[in-house]
Amino acid sequence: MSTTTRVGRLQDKIVIVAGASSGIGRATALVAHDEGAKVALLDYDPQGAKAVDGLPIGCDVSNPDEVDRAVGEVIDRFGRVDILINVAGINDKYTPIEELNDRVWTRVFDINVRGTALMTKPVLEEMLTVESGAIVNISSTASLVAGGGGVAYTASKGAVSSMTGEIAFEVGGRGIRVNAVAPGITTTNFRANSSAILDLHELTPGAQRMFDRAAGAAFGNVPLGRGAEPSEIAKAVVFLASDEASYITGSVMVVDGGRTIH
Ligand SMILES: NC(=O)c1ccc[n+]([C@@H]2O[C@H](COP(=O)([O-])OP(=O)(O)OC[C@H]3O[C@@H](n4cnc5c(N)ncnc54)[C@H](O)[C@@H]3O)[C@@H](O)[C@H]2O)c1
Repeated sequence: MSTTTRVGRLQDKIVIVAGASSGIGRATALVAHDEGAKVALLDYDPQGAKAVDGLPIGCDVSNPDEVDRAVGEVIDRFGRVDILINVAGINDKYTPIEELNDRVWTRVFDINVRGTALMTKPVLEEMLTVESGAIVNISSTASLVAGGGGVAYTASKGAVSSMTGEIAFEVGGRGIRVNAVAPGITTTNFRANSSAILDLHELTPGAQRMFDRAAGAAFGNVPLGRGAEPSEIAKAVVFLASDEASYITGSVMVVDGGRTIH
């Protein structure tokens, strides 16, 4: 009787997941590992990723020195980076424009937008030396339909989608694909984790009104009638990162149970 060894879709690929300690990032790291990848797990506190067999590295993606050190550690350990998955992000606690303050705006943009760019730059430099690689960013349907967050969060995710297209345009001719996934509501600790990172535990009155509007709609607007499991987002991310998506670049794949079709 012959035995066959399964070859994973990311077999022997070196993958960085930034924001790997929780939710979508941790699920993505697990799927990538199951698909044969060697995974570097970056997060503020990488202990959260200990359920995943990989290389945990403490890193604040909005800190350029920490990012450079973390990417250097991955290169030292594995010799290269094949795939970068930028998941790290926070929300803005539904802060509406009339209550917006500089601290919330700056921190949300620092992590969601600047952090994505900071992670991408040194990894791209490595990828460009071999003219091969794939990057997947995490946007959000909040960038497509109003009410999925406050003004800073929704704008930051619009920026992530735009940046994805721009970088794809810049490096497509040099063997590197860049895509994004825009998840709809996904069952994670996103709100609580963001509260802790922002040190903002109470919703302002206006934010509470915004949140009640979003929560009131609940899953009534979602044709599939429920939120996503993190693994359902992770599978789309891994598809875009894999060679199965060899002709896909610059795209934003919506994974939202149909939320944005009406
Ligand atoms: N949960 C949802 O409904 C939803 C929907 C659409 C998009 N998203 C996006 O998915 C991504 C992951 O969210 P999640 O729901 O899994 O939330 P999560 O809070 O479970 O995971 C986010 C992870 O990012 C890490 N992180 C945050 N700031 C960081 C920083 N500066 N440096 C390093 N790590 C940092 C956190 O520690 C955490 O482990 C976010 O970008 C979010 O905007 C989430």
